[in-house]
Amino acid sequence: MSKKICIVGTGYVGMASAIGLAELGWSVVGYDIMTERIAGLRAGITPYRESGIDEPLRRHLASGALSFVTDLAAAVHDARIVILTVGTPSSSDGSADLSALRAATDALLRVPLAPSAVVVVRSTVPPGTTDALAGVLAGHARVIYAPEFLREGTALRDFLHPDRIVVGTESVGAATAYAALFEALEAPVLLTSRCNAELIKGVSNAFLALKISFANEIANLCEELGADAGDVLRGVGYDRRIGGAFLAPGIGFGGPCFEKDVKSLRCVAEGAGTGYELLGAVLRVNNAQPARVVETLARELGGLDGATIAVWGLAFKAGTDDVRDSLALRILGDLVERGARPVAYDPAVRTAVLPKGCRLAANALEAATGADALLVLTEWPSFREVEPVALARRLRRGLVVDGRNLLDPERFVAVGLRYRGVGRSVDPVQSSLAVAG
Ligand code: UDX
Repeated sequence: MSKKICIVGTGYVGMASAIGLAELGWSVVGYDIMTERIAGLRAGITPYRESGIDEPLRRHLASGALSFVTDLAAAVHDARIVILTVGTPSSSDGSADLSALRAATDALLRVPLAPSAVVVVRSTVPPGTTDALAGVLAGHARVIYAPEFLREGTALRDFLHPDRIVVGTESVGAATAYAALFEALEAPVLLTSRCNAELIKGVSNAFLALKISFANEIANLCEELGADAGDVLRGVGYDRRIGGAFLAPGIGFGGPCFEKDVKSLRCVAEGAGTGYELLGAVLRVNNAQPARVVETLARELGGLDGATIAVWGLAFKAGTDDVRDSLALRILGDLVERGARPVAYDPAVRTAVLPKGCRLAANALEAATGADALLVLTEWPSFREVEPVALARRLRRGLVVDGRNLLDPERFVAVGLRYRGVGRSVDPVQSSLAVAG
């Protein structure tokens, strides 16, 4: 039987899936309507920065196990499995925009698929979507839904070390063919209906987003009480029933997935006529959170008009150069609106469309030179390596607002800087003594 797999859509999920499947020994052909992206991938250049992906990409291109084409008929020819990883962004009403998925499905109707081909939807979609697509593709292919749980920046590692493999199917034969791709991984496989599998994806992301909004709300409370959210949430997270992951408070969740997926699930709940109180609250808390660091800056500086603010971090999280739905960009816009002049630096973002009035610096210390205060918006580990003394010499008014609780407050306070984190007690020395006592 053919070992060929076709991937339709080469964003970070499609790209990591293609390379991951090649790593597992399959022969993979990636297809995209974006010809420039395909040209880049053929040359070993990825559209997004992803850790550990360049070497296997080049290795599998060289061996021929992985190739990229712009001809769909050639891509699906003889492929036993066709995986759809096209984008499903938010529409203006918050529902998922399925136009790319529909276009890809229509395109599949116009090319000869291998007999008994299985089409696997991996894009995040509302429940019922795959059943509808299966109706469209009836007579051409069997259709299953198999969600991905890949984080940007670590997508290949997540692909090769999954917590679970979820397969939504109405055909055991199709599910078995798909699950066989991952036999080498020894991850638990959950076979369920397509609708259940679609919900598992949306609900997983909504729950992770809920944890973050919960952590942020508690951190804001801790700040008012002079408590330390780091210790509080660590103490809570040690309870195995709760778990410590995704409880790091900060500026809120950004990026192309969480907000869109929570909005999409809220639309589904609204359409179904059931309650969506929690889903709405997750979004409201997240929407309000970025303004808090701006308020902290304004309070500590006695206003923002005319202030120069060094901003460390533009990407929506560390490990990626993606600024899509990055809250850092929203915060830059707020700073400019309040009369401040932000000077931003991000180790991975070299070009970004910044709000008018912002400047890009070449490195972290250059951004800080002559600024009134520093604002940290992405948790890049390299920011921790900047010497507090060097920073203290450059900041005119000695204020550090750490929107990610990345830096070690004691080192900054020790050189005379004022440090404000998110839900971090103002006097870290007193707090650590209290904990030790
Ligand atoms: C997410 C899901 O984790 C992944 O399973 C899914 O398939 C795609 O969406 P991603 O958006 O790439 O992945 O990044 P993730 O690491 O989940 O972070 C999302 C946002 O939440 C980032 O802005 C991050 O900084 C923020 N975050 C994360 C927090 O603010 N606190 C946390 O504790 C964790």
